[in-house]
Amino acid sequence: MSTATLQQPVTDSNPVTDFLPLQGTDYVEFYVGNAKQAAHFYKTAFGFQSLAYAGPETGMKDKVSYAIRQNKLTFVLTTPLKTNNVIADHIYKHGDGVKVLALRVDDATSAWKETTSRGGRSYMEPTTLKDEQGELVMSGIHTYGDTVHLFIERNHYHGVFMPGFKEWKSNYNPSSTGLLYVDHCVGNVDWNQMNPWVKFYEDVMGFRNILSFDDKDISTEYSALMSKVMSNGNGYVKFPINEPAEGKKKSQVEEFLDFYNGEGVQHVAIATNDIITTVSELQKRGVEFLTIPSNYYETVLDRVGKIDEDLAPLQKLGILIDRDDEGYLLQIFSKPLEDRPTLFFEIIQRKGAKSFGKGNFKALFEALEREQDARGNL
Ligand code: FE2
Repeated sequence: MSTATLQQPVTDSNPVTDFLPLQGTDYVEFYVGNAKQAAHFYKTAFGFQSLAYAGPETGMKDKVSYAIRQNKLTFVLTTPLKTNNVIADHIYKHGDGVKVLALRVDDATSAWKETTSRGGRSYMEPTTLKDEQGELVMSGIHTYGDTVHLFIERNHYHGVFMPGFKEWKSNYNPSSTGLLYVDHCVGNVDWNQMNPWVKFYEDVMGFRNILSFDDKDISTEYSALMSKVMSNGNGYVKFPINEPAEGKKKSQVEEFLDFYNGEGVQHVAIATNDIITTVSELQKRGVEFLTIPSNYYETVLDRVGKIDEDLAPLQKLGILIDRDDEGYLLQIFSKPLEDRPTLFFEIIQRKGAKSFGKGNFKALFEALEREQDARGNL
């Protein structure tokens, strides 16, 4: 019996009533142990291109950052050059992980004022960065764990990425895998912290709860979680928030919290227009995905009805299918991207559906539990 509730699509993008108008995700910044190697991995395995570099050669003495891009998807990989600083401490505590979910705005000063006046804790006051290519304003607030949101105003900046960076030209340019943009980013928060963070996104950022899953939707024999999906006014930015729930054994969210050493980004979902081509290419390049028992495919079309794709390539690749009132979606989940069982990616192709694949939760979480069990953490 389903207890998920899909509320009316959010269509309020009127700037008069939306105090935090967002144009989407500007970039995702990861704090990592070795940005040079991480950039190579994301270029090779996922098909990103070199975009920009910042480090001692560009006047940044204490860290290096590599910006890489594929279509509208921009990652920044940052490593400190010395110990005893907040970046080194972040990596020591969490391992490699997402530090910044940066959001594109027209007015970073207004975004900071509106959010901090509603209780958001300031991470960075509005700051103007300038070079010969123009100026960029950024500001930021803290969210769950050590994660932050930066507001990026770049309407008057014409350089490759932002002041402080120089163009990174590389002779090594692997072809794209068809990744397009961030569809959603999921946060794992502590026991009983989902609703406080839902309230944070409602009160501080003007988001709305568009979808909820309780532990009856998302429980398997052993592990359970609860989730609420938060969306901004125009629906360009969606942040599901998970918390662990009591099960027979340890929740997958609890395993994350143990190994990330606190709350943080669990997965980044990336959109593609052709998931079969994208996932074929990713697998060829060594990206590992969760595997689903083949009996999933024996009944899936009874559940989701007719789809445009042939089932055989979906089954071969392990791509999952789900349907809601507005259409269907195709999705697949990677194994963790680093040694700790923390951050992973989802690849998603939406064909009308606006939901998140609830019909796949059981198969998916059983697959996750097998991995968790193999690590001795179930
Ligand atoms: Fe997701």
